[in-house]
Amino acid sequence: CAVYPEPPKEILRPVYLPEKLLTSPGPCNCSDRVLQSLSQQMLGHLHPEICQLMDDIKAGLWYAFQTRNRLTLALSTSGHGGMEACLDNLLEPGETALIAKCGIWGERAADMANRSGANIKFLETALGVPFDLTALEKALAKHRPAVVFVTHAESSTGMKQPLEGVGKLVHKYEALLIVDAVASLGGEPFFMDAWQVDAAYAGSQKVLGAPPGITPVSFSPRAERKIFRRKTRPAYYWDLKILGNYWSCFGAPRVYHHTISATLVYGLRTALAQLVEEGLLASWARHAATAVRFRKGLRDLGLQCYIENPEHQLSTVIAIKLPANIDGNILIAQVMKKYKIEISGGLGPTVNKVLRIGLMGINAEAYTADRVLSVIHNELQHSLKAKI
Ligand code: GLV
Repeated sequence: CAVYPEPPKEILRPVYLPEKLLTSPGPCNCSDRVLQSLSQQMLGHLHPEICQLMDDIKAGLWYAFQTRNRLTLALSTSGHGGMEACLDNLLEPGETALIAKCGIWGERAADMANRSGANIKFLETALGVPFDLTALEKALAKHRPAVVFVTHAESSTGMKQPLEGVGKLVHKYEALLIVDAVASLGGEPFFMDAWQVDAAYAGSQKVLGAPPGITPVSFSPRAERKIFRRKTRPAYYWDLKILGNYWSCFGAPRVYHHTISATLVYGLRTALAQLVEEGLLASWARHAATAVRFRKGLRDLGLQCYIENPEHQLSTVIAIKLPANIDGNILIAQVMKKYKIEISGGLGPTVNKVLRIGLMGINAEAYTADRVLSVIHNELQHSLKAKI
């Protein structure tokens, strides 16, 4: 009988991949140790060794998030899934979500919350400008939301949102605070319990230096109460009541929810071990020192950061204002073609306005910062000469 389609020839080609320096806002390069962990043989997702590694991951995440939340685990998904899981578990249809919007992530969260049936209200500031507590309180009093969504590290602009006092205010109005810490966790100070954050999620592939696809999340006891008392059910895949059991967060025997990737468990477990060995304070200081060096280098080249106020500049992702006479897409393509270095353009509202550089995880160090500066310098010179 006929076999259709024909066996594809392309699949028989060997896979040779180039080594690239990943200095976009993520993913960043994995350490050799993380890479080695990923090459270990598969194990069953409920084998005792994997359960032990999952427990280790929880301990590593308590440290990384600075929390005692028992409902702390890693989702089998990208950072987007972390966002959706937080919104879907903490919002019921008809409730109001107040979303701080000053870049792409507020827009994305609004889209997701809307699909969960929530009414969306925005706390909007100009691009790259954080909100302040007065504006937040006004919006809370006006909209009486069930949930407030805030992005700690707005990677589209390189802006850091100060979080001191935000949780306290949100709780005064009996709402829950969700924080997107995808591009900050491990590289910027983050204090989940002290800042009274109710739900937070991070990117495994950013500062933590694991592959994407396994997203750390944590939920406060307040958030847990909402999860257990809600009247409607969230999507099965995001249901934290079942996932919490799968990760043995509630002291009961583990219950199968889905088949986690053992490989990603090895990777995240190893990446968190590296964070713990270095220590959070040292990691924050290393990211800050690299960013200071990089920004000084930019000034020396006559370039400007998109975020001008040093208090609101992220260390992990730096957005550079695109000089008027430069085509960012050509520059980015040349940097990749000639040097195998990834830098990124704008995202969402910053498209064609900025270049974005991520100096995270093992790439947050002086040599890499200097190398990226030097290729940007070369390519700017090249583009300008080509125009004369
Ligand atoms: C993705 O997270 C990005 O900022 O490009």
